[in-house]
Amino acid sequence: MAVVRGIYASTGGNTEIVMEKVADVLSEHGHDVTLERAELVQEADLTGNDLIIIGSPTYGHGQLQYHMIEFTKRFKDHSFKDQHFAVIGLGDDKYDSYYLVESARLLQEFIEARDGSMIHEPLKIIKSPIPHLASKVNDWAEDLHQKL
Ligand SMILES: Cc1cc2nc3c(=O)[nH]c(=O)nc-3n(C[C@H](O)[C@H](O)[C@H](O)COP(=O)(O)O)c2cc1C
Repeated sequence: MAVVRGIYASTGGNTEIVMEKVADVLSEHGHDVTLERAELVQEADLTGNDLIIIGSPTYGHGQLQYHMIEFTKRFKDHSFKDQHFAVIGLGDDKYDSYYLVESARLLQEFIEARDGSMIHEPLKIIKSPIPHLASKVNDWAEDLHQKL
């Protein structure tokens, strides 16, 4: 059983739906999963976890959602050494391909620049997550479980 913390930002609810699905899958495998919105995360929440999953949609021409931007500013001096991470990014291909799901890349960059380790490739969801919940999101969470 692993202690898993999910941290996410979401304006329209899509990222929240994905995080909840991943949390459900991991909980069914017996992991202790807590989800928290980025704006509510405290420093203490970032320690004592076997895995932190960070999720954000892309907004504003290839940027993180604003609460996640604030999160990265608040914890810019935090070290994630010896901590394991996985990242979830959402986007929409009606936006320029240059900006498509940039949130996943930005989150990975944020974590690795602070010595955190990615234990799985990012989950990237384009357009509504609803059609992907039972397959792509579920399968990603199952793979993640195998690595815990
Ligand atoms: C104003 C606005 C700007 C957006 N900018 C981007 C973008 O630059 N790149 C991208 O891939 N998706 C972009 N999106 C799409 C969102 O990332 C996508 O709709 C996502 O599912 C929203 O997640 P949420 O419901 O959790 O907020 C944008 C959406 C809006 C409404």
